[in-house]
Amino acid sequence: MAKTSWYKEMAVYQIWTRSFCDGNGDGIGDLWGVLSKLDYIKSLGVDAIWFSPLYPSPNADFGYDISDYKNIHPDYGDLELFKQVLDEAHKRGLRVFMDLVVNHTSDEHPWFQESKKGKYNPYHDYYYWRPGRKIRGLRLPPNNWTSLFEGGAWEYDQGLDEYYLHLFAKKQPDLNMHNPKVRQEVKDILRFWLNLGVDGFREDVVTFIAKAEGLPDCHPWIPVANGMKYYSNLPQAHEFLAEFKRDVLDNYDCFTVGESPMTTPETALRYVTEGEDQVLDEMIAFSHMEADCVATDMIRRPFSLRKMKKAFSDWQMKLQGKGWNALYIENHDHPRIISRYGSERWHDESGKMLAAMYILQRGTPFIYQGQEIGMTNLRLEKTEQYPDVMTQNSVRILSKFMPRSQVLKVIRAGARDNARSPVQWSAEKNAGFSTGEPWFTVNGNYTEINVAAQEEDPDSLLNFYRRLLRFRKEHPVVLWGDYVEHLPESRDLYVYERNYEGKKMLVICSFTEKQIRFEAPAGIELDEKALVLGNYESNFVISNGFTTRPYELRVYLFG
Ligand code: GLC
Ligand code: CA
Repeated sequence: MAKTSWYKEMAVYQIWTRSFCDGNGDGIGDLWGVLSKLDYIKSLGVDAIWFSPLYPSPNADFGYDISDYKNIHPDYGDLELFKQVLDEAHKRGLRVFMDLVVNHTSDEHPWFQESKKGKYNPYHDYYYWRPGRKIRGLRLPPNNWTSLFEGGAWEYDQGLDEYYLHLFAKKQPDLNMHNPKVRQEVKDILRFWLNLGVDGFREDVVTFIAKAEGLPDCHPWIPVANGMKYYSNLPQAHEFLAEFKRDVLDNYDCFTVGESPMTTPETALRYVTEGEDQVLDEMIAFSHMEADCVATDMIRRPFSLRKMKKAFSDWQMKLQGKGWNALYIENHDHPRIISRYGSERWHDESGKMLAAMYILQRGTPFIYQGQEIGMTNLRLEKTEQYPDVMTQNSVRILSKFMPRSQVLKVIRAGARDNARSPVQWSAEKNAGFSTGEPWFTVNGNYTEINVAAQEEDPDSLLNFYRRLLRFRKEHPVVLWGDYVEHLPESRDLYVYERNYEGKKMLVICSFTEKQIRFEAPAGIELDEKALVLGNYESNFVISNGFTTRPYELRVYLFG
């Protein structure tokens, strides 16, 4: 864990390497590409890079199914090259975080291959192997849990006549963290990367690592993620994390952020409350990403600003004075934000508004590759063109309830593949991502939306991100100020203030193209000279308020 509060002041850039930049022309992003873009990353004003998994993997879940924890996928380079990237990042003052995926491995990991060989194999107990149940002559899985990605949570192995548990895809068998040998392996992995010089970890589905004794059936039955109450946030998950901290992380000055779907601030506080029981520096929230869907991106509903605001405020208020937030609006698991909460029509305006809206809150901002230029969702012709395992699972389930055309609509809006199209570097062939044939479709709007064009324009979204990150660093009120929301009932405006040592920052965000009359909250005098950031040119104030332009943003600083 981090020994001082450096992690609270940093901003992080997330790289999903496969689609970031291809350095050797084979159509797949790699570490040569990353190396060539380190100056660019540094120029954004971020302080660290988080790499989605770089390890050898059969790519059933694009790297989140790991077959060797202590190596680099040959598509991306090798350990030597990784060390070079690490060195060059450090030279530029950028820290580097790895993705730690230890809830499950790949089924091609040697541990799993061994575990399949027999019940007495020393690796058998690394996983959850269980005999099936016989009911009226029928062979049934050990319990009624369903996976998050691919139907039932159990897969039968003929050789062993046993089933193994997989909470995600079939090719992602769950590790049995209750086995002390598995925890030893995890600690070895942590030490391996820390000794190499890595500065921390983003810990994948970390609240799922403990499972209830006896793996009981769950009622009532649901087709996705049935059983969650028996594997999510069990007290042992906290104990395991405390053990990793005590035995390894405490010996290094490193950062940890935990991830798990459906985490609430209450559960996050169990892990991140500062003090003796703290086991993670931060936890990734999900509820603010559910303002246009229900529980998953695949159940769509119209965007509700009130839902989004409630989620942000809930985390801001509940963690205030207790723990630190991880702030984000995009990553490799969600569609692009402008296409969701903003407006492709008001691309630049809504992109800037959304950036300020979350980066000026209290916490560590994470920026996902391509977000800084406002990349948008893809619109592919057929569902088959979306390669992700979770997307294909959704296609399978949705097809039972709706016609094909409707399924395609949902996938276009909800697929996480939307965030995985190649980064648009320039208006050149393949958006400058690769000289070869890109592994995945480049968004057709790359001739307009690309890094090179935005570098030229001082008012571009890209340059706005730079200004915003600099502003955050220069003003203690942004880093440390308390958060207070205004107009929580408004369906169009998100307004909040931050206060610190006599300074006040007021952030006003419009989420509509409609004109809305905004009046300053009691006690605040809007002063044209106090405006420090915005997305339009002239910013008049009339009777202590103004009428908003489409997706308008205004930030005022007082005191
Ligand atoms: C996390 C990752 C996601 C992955 C899943 C299973 O949610 O962010 O990409 O598919 O865990 O590892
Ligand atoms: Ca390559």
